[in-house]
Amino acid sequence: MEVVILPDPESVARLAADAVERLVRRGVGAGPEGSGPVGAGPVGAGPVLGLATGSSPLATYAELRRRHRTEGLSFAHVRAFLLDEYVGLPADHPQRYAAVIERELAAHLDLSPGAVRGPDGAAADVPAECAAYEAAIEEAGGVDLQLLGIGSDGHLGFNEPGSSLSSLTRIKTLTAVTRADNARFFAHADEVPRHVITQGLGTIRRARHLVLLATGASKAAIVADAVEGPVTASCPASVLQLHPHVSVLLDEAAAADLTRANYYREVYTGKPAWQGL
Ligand code: GLP
Repeated sequence: MEVVILPDPESVARLAADAVERLVRRGVGAGPEGSGPVGAGPVGAGPVLGLATGSSPLATYAELRRRHRTEGLSFAHVRAFLLDEYVGLPADHPQRYAAVIERELAAHLDLSPGAVRGPDGAAADVPAECAAYEAAIEEAGGVDLQLLGIGSDGHLGFNEPGSSLSSLTRIKTLTAVTRADNARFFAHADEVPRHVITQGLGTIRRARHLVLLATGASKAAIVADAVEGPVTASCPASVLQLHPHVSVLLDEAAAADLTRANYYREVYTGKPAWQGL
């Protein structure tokens, strides 16, 4: 696991966007780099991104939109999978995660129609939808780079504390803490759905590169638990410690509770430029 401590949230967004850009520019059939092949799926397939919602990746999405608009970064050959989705929101609800990703990112890029897929929170047969979602990720060759935020209770996607570290896509019930955290996106706290469909921790672990973004003092304690605490289902994000290629990008405030902060800084400062994240 590489922990990168940066001066501010803008630097976190730029470095995350650099990692996405590097993947996207490697393009189709560029061959293996790092921990696995890009777009190992069907012939002609390109890079596969894993997209997160919540506020943590928003600045990264803004930076990717800017690079597309002003620097010609093309996403025409990219496919993407969402981490999770609320169950039971009306099809036109602006807080459906599919709608959020469309608004914040997809609508501004040159993605092909159907390139972005998320779990269907309105599916009549939820277990069948979850199995189909797992199969779709697999058919695409797996996720090359998965962006992640961290919930204040340590959740990844919507894998609440107690989630199996090997879980696959399934329905989950949100904790009161998460519903309260997410109430800011809804007119009334009661409107926050109780149920969600989320990629499991086992699903997330299959992505070849995990990039966790956390900024602000409110994330400091849970980041320290996830990065330096024990691996436990009580802190789902601690599962990152089991993955061979993880980048944890933090601003100073989110890094404040880390005991090995100076070591992480030394490692990053001395890193060869060719290595990337
Ligand atoms: C939601 C999302 C998570 C996200 C978390 C943190 O619950 N399902 O994917 O990581 O919120 O949100 P934020 O980035 O707003 O702190």
